[in-house]
Amino acid sequence: MTTTGSKDQVLIFDTTLRDGEQSPGASMTLEEKLQVAELLDDMGVDIIEAGFPIASNGDFESVREIAKRSKRSVIAGLARAIHADIDRCGEAVRHAERGRIHTFVSTSPIHLKYQMNKTEDEVLAIITDTVTRARNLIDDVEWSAMDATRTPIEYLCRTVEAAIKAGATTINLPDTVGYATPDEYRDMFAQIRARVPNADKAIFSVHCHNDLGLAVANSLAGVAGGARQIECTINGLGERAGNAALEEIVMAIRTRSDIYPYGCNVEPKFLTRASKLVSAVSNFPVQYNKAIVGKNAFAHESGIHQDGMLKNAETYEIMRPEDVGVKATSLVMGKHSGRHAFKDKLKELGYELGDNALQEAFRRFKDLADRKKNVYDEDIEALVEDEISTSGE
Ligand code: KIV
Ligand code: ZN
Repeated sequence: MTTTGSKDQVLIFDTTLRDGEQSPGASMTLEEKLQVAELLDDMGVDIIEAGFPIASNGDFESVREIAKRSKRSVIAGLARAIHADIDRCGEAVRHAERGRIHTFVSTSPIHLKYQMNKTEDEVLAIITDTVTRARNLIDDVEWSAMDATRTPIEYLCRTVEAAIKAGATTINLPDTVGYATPDEYRDMFAQIRARVPNADKAIFSVHCHNDLGLAVANSLAGVAGGARQIECTINGLGERAGNAALEEIVMAIRTRSDIYPYGCNVEPKFLTRASKLVSAVSNFPVQYNKAIVGKNAFAHESGIHQDGMLKNAETYEIMRPEDVGVKATSLVMGKHSGRHAFKDKLKELGYELGDNALQEAFRRFKDLADRKKNVYDEDIEALVEDEISTSGE
């Protein structure tokens, strides 16, 4: 198991450029992918899944280019359990200082019946064959059991055992359809690690989709069950409701180190920049109330909260905005704002009013905020100038 100092290390595997790009409408150009990969590498992401090389010549080229330029991240490419996929992927990632082939096959009864039309034993043979082929090309091979969370545990154990025996160094057990709950997901990892011979030879990985809004909670639960790699995307971009959001995972580990005592190489001050870049290149806006990187994540409007924030930021903030690359908390002036925040805003704008003028300006500000959705600094300036000229202050 990887450790830093006295802490277990959790590896961050970013799949924005592969699973994230699979969101309808999110495809990126080569130039855009290179920009994202460079930032992920700079921010300390351990493994970057750069694409699916067999999918198109463009995908192959972007994985190869990212592999060539990588500085410290491992560069992974995805491959189905097909020789041609694995060979093409090996060809793309071999340019990296440290490359990885990530190959997968479905294991659940519903996928075996409708998608693959194969028996359990046939799939076991495919795992042995394809993982062996990948290992003949490269030392770092990840194997994923697609739809692991809907696979009976006995069979899942047999598939994991086969993959480790054939040389897989990372075993990923995805919640492909976002069906698991945190308790189930944690128990699945704990059971597999206890039951599969040689389980300690591989690093276990979580990969969670957000169909029930549980992707981040499930990822952290999987780590509690013994996984030490988390697959996630910037802004939670990904198929359907998306993947677990990298920024939420990194900040949960950092903010609640009492509960999640793990080392993590990602430098949080890059999170806001990464979110903006991925939003721009994927054309997916970030919801205002998105945890960590949403426009309102460090904004306060209510009088009670603003008053608390002006006295001590820890009253209503559990993270410091500058830690994630946001300049400062914003106290948004609106109809819920109180006198304390209003006075503070006037000071920031360069006004100091006497008690009566302040009282009247505050009353007029509240009337304005009732009529207007957004009250800007210019609105407040105009109102105060008017108040000064009528009151003669
Ligand atoms: O969700 C999933 O199962 C995947 C695999 C390809 C790892 O994305
Ligand atoms: Zn996925």
